[in-house]
Amino acid sequence: MKGLILSGGSGTGLRPITHTSAKQLVPVANKPILFYGIEAMAAAGITDIAIVIAPGTGADVRAAVGDGSRFGVGITWIVQSEPLGLAHCVRLARSFLADDDFVMYLGDNMLEQGLGDLVERFRAERSVPLEPKPKPKPDSVGPDPHRPKPVAARILLAEVEDPQRFGVAELSATGEVVRLVEKPAEPPSELALVGVYLFSPEIHEAAAAIEPSGRGELEITDAIGWLIDNGRRVVHEVLDGWWMDTGKKDPLLACNRLILDTISRRVEGEVDGSSRLEGSVVIEAGAMLVNSTIRGPVVIGTGTRIVDSHVGSYCSLGPDCTVTASRIDNSVVLAGASVTGVEHLTDSLVGRHSRVGPGAGRPGSLRLLVGDHCQVELR
Ligand code: TTP
Repeated sequence: MKGLILSGGSGTGLRPITHTSAKQLVPVANKPILFYGIEAMAAAGITDIAIVIAPGTGADVRAAVGDGSRFGVGITWIVQSEPLGLAHCVRLARSFLADDDFVMYLGDNMLEQGLGDLVERFRAERSVPLEPKPKPKPDSVGPDPHRPKPVAARILLAEVEDPQRFGVAELSATGEVVRLVEKPAEPPSELALVGVYLFSPEIHEAAAAIEPSGRGELEITDAIGWLIDNGRRVVHEVLDGWWMDTGKKDPLLACNRLILDTISRRVEGEVDGSSRLEGSVVIEAGAMLVNSTIRGPVVIGTGTRIVDSHVGSYCSLGPDCTVTASRIDNSVVLAGASVTGVEHLTDSLVGRHSRVGPGAGRPGSLRLLVGDHCQVELR
């Protein structure tokens, strides 16, 4: 079985970060989101993986992932010139995938559960020998309706509160997938399609047959719908554990919290005598704490300096950041950023080399240099 990871797209939900970088490289607990997907595939024994990248951000993704050897996998790169949809990615990967079954994984999704069981179930159901075709009786016509059909696709579903934001499945009374709808105004169920799909090569016929949707994309929901409409078997399972589509700030922070909840204490950086560490904290070698309190779960990257500050729960501070005379919690701060003299920074995503803090303006006034599509919330 092969793997196909989608790491292109336009990433509008995470602007302005995605003006300069791929959203799949945004770190969760200081590790790029994409790496969790590659590791999940490797753990499920899938070592032949293609990654779809966009022309603008693809070089960074390639540089971050390398040749895949650190994950124990081989990588084939596929450049998608425009984000024309998930089924467009399947079309582009046609020759890589050949006639193999494959797992398709959205590079900005994260799952608590591994892929191992799911992949094993698909392998098993794909290798079950079908009952031998019964010899036609002299008086019978047509195929035997009781002969089991092979499974063409296995999809993963999760119960969500806001199905309007997702691809949604409609199930029959017996649990068959009868229809999939993309971001429906009136959802037929609360079961959203999770960004992991198991496909047989039959998906290629479907991806080739469909037309772009109203938003101009070749939708994977339409391709799966095509399989169903053409009499192929699409089975499903409802996910155990959490699942996150990290393409927006708040889900990304929620994901960061879930991962930080699993870390164990490791302190390799320098902590001075007047600093205090509580709970599970990871302080990488080369980080430095001066007169500060860190209340875990928190990770602090190498080269980061925290001075006269309080870093509260659920912070991931990337490498080479500076936090001075500030209080910060529930935030993800990317490499090289600085936070100075801020009373309380919370629920924030701070981009690479950004500076947050007071300037030379009059008290009560604000002076900003804000990039395109930024959000500044004032209270
Ligand atoms: P989405 O998050 O659905 O699409 P997007 O990245 O364009 O995001 P936004 O809506 O915020 O603009 O994509 C899911 C994953 O698939 C994500 O990792 C990006 C990737 N993708 C591609 O690689 N090619 C594509 O054509 C599309 C639409 C997505």
